[in-house]
Amino acid sequence: MVSIAIMGHGVVGSGVAEILLTHKQKLFARLGEEIYIKKVLDLREFPDSPIADRFTKDFEEIINDLEIRVVVEVMGGLHPSYEFVSRCIKAGKSVVTSNKELVAAYGAELLALAKENNVNFLFEASVGGGIPIIRPMNQCLVANIVDEIAGILNGTTNFILTKMIEDGMQFADALKLAQELGFAEKDPTADIEGHDACRKICILASLAFGKHVYPDSVHTEGITKITLEDVKYAEKFGCVIKLIGRVKKLNNNKIDIITAPMLVPLKSQLANIDNEFNGIMVRGDCTGDVVFYGKGAGKLPTASAVVADIVDCCQHLKKRRFLFWTDGDGSNIINVSESVFAMYVRVKGRDAVVKAEGIFGSIQSLSTHGGDRAAFTTKAMTYSEFTEKINKLASDGVEILSTIRIGDL
Ligand code: HSE
Repeated sequence: MVSIAIMGHGVVGSGVAEILLTHKQKLFARLGEEIYIKKVLDLREFPDSPIADRFTKDFEEIINDLEIRVVVEVMGGLHPSYEFVSRCIKAGKSVVTSNKELVAAYGAELLALAKENNVNFLFEASVGGGIPIIRPMNQCLVANIVDEIAGILNGTTNFILTKMIEDGMQFADALKLAQELGFAEKDPTADIEGHDACRKICILASLAFGKHVYPDSVHTEGITKITLEDVKYAEKFGCVIKLIGRVKKLNNNKIDIITAPMLVPLKSQLANIDNEFNGIMVRGDCTGDVVFYGKGAGKLPTASAVVADIVDCCQHLKKRRFLFWTDGDGSNIINVSESVFAMYVRVKGRDAVVKAEGIFGSIQSLSTHGGDRAAFTTKAMTYSEFTEKINKLASDGVEILSTIRIGDL
């Protein structure tokens, strides 16, 4: 029997307990011994839980229990998660987490601490919820040099954008619906401003390129400025708008990493990933494109990934699973101004298209309202070149209503 503790009994934590109890026989058959939930840490009371007698409000009961070999952190947030996880690792316990904020902020440090203490720190559920992505990248694709990773990594924003695209809903109404259906949090800032997707692409980039990428070194835009006009123009240009986390390896051993809404051509595999689903494309030099698709959030999908990590830790109590990257100082990341994209621009003003052609050269354009409103797409250029040109267009009397990158996906 391997004793474990679960810190947090919210959506994911209760899902982990549920799977461990309902799938006990299946997991026993796989592991050859029982996974026993010895303690659950939560400040709330759960008198109706089948394991109500094992709840504690005191972390010290977990850290001081020598029988507990694996601790699951599903509390979310940075503090006290970071302090609890560090202490567990230092006490010789393996840790499993679904907390992307924690891994994106402290991944390198916690991986080093786990190495030092000869235990495991696993976080499959931190990216893509129930979609296997960390383990496949770390094991199945290990022979590849990763050229690019691009993904729809946030279910809430993908749901909102899908409602705007398919049902013509305004952003605010689609967000309200997402909240009513339980996809979006009461405070949806981290989702709609792109921070959640940014943390996830940072974790994947750290894993793929071996150096920690911190979220504050990644240019991040959310979807709050996307309008129905943009959605309709995107359709006319043969694209859909998706929030994309993307990292690309450049020739100089640097990486280009960004989180931003992008026009995704309909032929791209990512264009058809809708509603609350996530999709991640990994381009390996040997495999070419490999695409992972599934539920990126939710109780049982996320808990499924957590339980897989628990089983892995239980199978390797005295052996380390190789999952590691070193700390990073951001010197391998190019500045967003050097990043190259074709751009979509929506404008208002007399002769806007003619003026845009004069500045950008060859463009593809569509106009409405007798030529007063227009949208156009440019060829690929660095963001600094684009900024210079768009500022010139604005100073020529054209109102710039929106600019969105076009994903070469
Ligand atoms: N808020 C996240 C999402 C939850 O919408 O994808 C899963 O990380």
